[in-house]
Amino acid sequence: MFSELVKATRSFRNFDPSYRLSDETIRGLIELCRYTPSTANSQSIKFAYANSEESCAKIFPMLGWAGYIKENKPPYDGNVPAAYILVCYDTDLSNELEIDAGICAQTIVLGAMDKGIAACMIGSFNKEKASELFALPDNIKPRLFIALGKPAETVEVVDIKNGDVKYYRESKVKHIVPKRTLDELLVKSM
Ligand SMILES: Cc1cc2nc3c(=O)[nH]c(=O)nc-3n(C[C@H](O)[C@H](O)[C@H](O)COP(=O)(O)O)c2cc1C
Repeated sequence: MFSELVKATRSFRNFDPSYRLSDETIRGLIELCRYTPSTANSQSIKFAYANSEESCAKIFPMLGWAGYIKENKPPYDGNVPAAYILVCYDTDLSNELEIDAGICAQTIVLGAMDKGIAACMIGSFNKEKASELFALPDNIKPRLFIALGKPAETVEVVDIKNGDVKYYRESKVKHIVPKRTLDELLVKSM
């Protein structure tokens, strides 16, 4: 059911390092973006990916994980992602791409979870280094990494308390995410 898929699609930060993602699986997730809406049908979001252990090891140190967790950040015990998709803007095609990139990113993470693959969007990373590593042309600007892999933790959503949006760990394998209630999200109805 779609609502169950949306609820299960959390940000996961611990992955089974023995599980790898095939080119076919990753290309299939990216292909979903062909069917997403885009501003003026510009289809200006472009992608790069890495799924070898060697390439993933080069990407991992560029990433900022779990900003609210100040000490002992996940991933733990080598539970690093098995692959990354880099969501990029093609600035030759358009410059207003934030919404389009978000639609593509959420489509990919929903499509991944539908296959039992966990994801975490990572906006905090060194964009110059990512461009260099992938040898991207000047018009292709990295915007968001999506880390992917078989989940090695659970993520639970709880109702927010006292407006505190900070997620926290209950253990190495359990991450808790406070969410505002529907009444807090809904400003008006007419
Ligand atoms: C655009 C965007 C950028 C994000 N960047 C990061 C990031 O750099 N590092 C990280 O650990 N999580 C990142 N996240 C994940 C958020 O922290 C996460 O969505 C939030 O804590 C809520 O958890 P949930 O996705 O399980 O609902 C990002 C999410 C989005 C949508």
